[in-house]
Amino acid sequence: MSAIESVLVENRVFPPQEAAVKAARISGMAAYEALCRQAEQDFQGFWAQQARDNVVWTRPFSRTLDESNAPFYKWFDDGELNASANCLDKHVGTPVENETAIVFEADDGTVTRVTYKELLARVGQFANALKAQGIRKGDRVIIYMPMTVEGVVAMQACARIGATHSVVFGGFSAKALNERIIDAGAVAVITANFQMRGGKELPLKAIVDDAIAMGGCTTLRTVLVYMRTPTACNMAAGRDKTFDEVLKGQSAECTPVSVGAEHPLFILYTSGSTGKPKGVQHSTGGYLLWAKLTMDWTFDIQPKDVFWCTADIGWITGHTYVAYGPLAAGATQVIFEGIPTWPDAGRFWQMIQKHKVTVFYTAPTAIRSLIKAAETDAKVHPRNWDLSSLRILGSVGEPINPEAWMWYHKNVGGERCPIVDTFWQTETGGHVITPLPGATPTVPGSCTLPLPGIMAAIVDETGKDLPNGAGGMLVIKRPWPSMIRTIWGDPERFKKSYFPEEMGGRTYLAGDGAVRSSDRGYFRITGRIDDVLNVSGHRLGTMEIESALVSKTDLVAEAAVVGRPDDLTGEAVCAFVVLKRPRPVGEEAKKIANELRNWVAKEIGPIAKPKDIRFGDNLPKTRSGKIMRRLLRSIAKGEAITQDTSTLENPAILEQLAEKN
Ligand code: PRX
Repeated sequence: MSAIESVLVENRVFPPQEAAVKAARISGMAAYEALCRQAEQDFQGFWAQQARDNVVWTRPFSRTLDESNAPFYKWFDDGELNASANCLDKHVGTPVENETAIVFEADDGTVTRVTYKELLARVGQFANALKAQGIRKGDRVIIYMPMTVEGVVAMQACARIGATHSVVFGGFSAKALNERIIDAGAVAVITANFQMRGGKELPLKAIVDDAIAMGGCTTLRTVLVYMRTPTACNMAAGRDKTFDEVLKGQSAECTPVSVGAEHPLFILYTSGSTGKPKGVQHSTGGYLLWAKLTMDWTFDIQPKDVFWCTADIGWITGHTYVAYGPLAAGATQVIFEGIPTWPDAGRFWQMIQKHKVTVFYTAPTAIRSLIKAAETDAKVHPRNWDLSSLRILGSVGEPINPEAWMWYHKNVGGERCPIVDTFWQTETGGHVITPLPGATPTVPGSCTLPLPGIMAAIVDETGKDLPNGAGGMLVIKRPWPSMIRTIWGDPERFKKSYFPEEMGGRTYLAGDGAVRSSDRGYFRITGRIDDVLNVSGHRLGTMEIESALVSKTDLVAEAAVVGRPDDLTGEAVCAFVVLKRPRPVGEEAKKIANELRNWVAKEIGPIAKPKDIRFGDNLPKTRSGKIMRRLLRSIAKGEAITQDTSTLENPAILEQLAEKN
């Protein structure tokens, strides 16, 4: 049964428990609907009120939304604020000040606690150190750090002085890092000597060195190195400095720099449908509002909660729900350095028990791998731990299949915790379609309904609304405060990628297919409709991987990459490759496939390694030379070809490509 059919027959509904409804901020569906109505009736008034209630402004705004240069929307643009002050300084003099902001659990299990007061001092001191290095408002700073308190401190310190950070996930290659340093025009890189994952010491600084050695980083002046482990790393004289060196003698007090609401808080690179990653630019005011508001709405965060989002700060989830949202909400959060399967696959459950986590937010791919582990080894089944502290569970990053949803509900949530299946993207800044824990009855595999003020719809290619039950393209018809502002350095690509002319140029096209259920109008995301893959919740462009493959010019003549469904990783990368030498078979094919996988890991990062590589004498092409990817998708899935192949130049190639090596 296809995903679309299954949503139409999915009839299990889980209303939130009465006590949860009573205690929640948005209590019951009527309260949710009232907020939606308010937003519809007075769109600007609604957002102005939210922005006044949830953000501390150093200069109040008088304009809520400026649409004069759509789709380059501006929100609260004559207002001023500082994001770090909204996460830290605002708690000074309140009871939150002495509460734990971060419970850090290192890879080896060592736990460190940091209060809000201490975090403010650490951020202040680091911000002063950045200033002493000549880093100023508007400068771009790359952060290539492991999951550590220091990673969050670095982000907050940039925000404090108005520098725009761009975090690069620690799993990306030197080449990917080099491209991002150049594209962002970064003046500094903040990194660590090593990162600890699964008991292993993995290099970070050495990769930074390689990235810089590749050339072109003309704007870069400084590399700041956090010594995560005692192992020495190469330090280039004059350029590289340790945290200890730059922090020495710096005061812990640093006045936050007030910036305009539209000042770019950060740039985060993500994959699109061309070979070049896009630098998604976010604002300060609208973004911060969303981080705070969704902590309240979606997670209904309360003073006694212990929040744990397992995402890395290298991804958008780690920005909004680790580095900013929990702090803006004054919550206590767990930050974990390691991996869910080390020392065994019970790590998450053990940590929930140990830290009495109440709100747990993770990705379907992690859930699926832990299900598999629990099925093969009863010792790591969640039933072995006391998970009774949990009250809300969250899911993010990819569609969650109903079986995984039910397992999460039963074995982790004890059939009592609502699951918020939050749909959003790097570009949306935070949740846009999600259940509310004290209001929305949940349905396995559905992200249910849009947040108040999010005008989501499903349309055809011309932008015409489709009825419930009909699959189409997911769009958001009105702007919202935390939306992407532009693609760094490429406003034309921003317009073309997200605001198609055929739809009037003002409707945000998410790039996902979706369908609404016939009964409740609930949304279910059916997957990307562009050339973007979602592998273990990581977003990868097929063209990016193709470019990486063909850049191995001594070996590869041509390559086409498609996705296929995978039980564990959601989607898997399949590459069809034509070599510059005769098509290899048997052991030789295996050897070359491995060589190509390692090449892709070096070019992009290990997450982009193709799972399947098939070799052909050619690729299926139309007479005009266009590669027929839909045929490749069928082959990758192992399906028989039923499509029309009459326009194909070389139909015999299909049989050859269907052979596995
Ligand atoms: O395809 C959708 C999927 O992840 C894409 C966004 O990826 P990224 O920008 O890396 O952000 C991931 C974290 C927000 C979307 O276009 N996606 C994300 N959340 C869900 C989802 N698909 C289905 N259900 C979700 N809850």
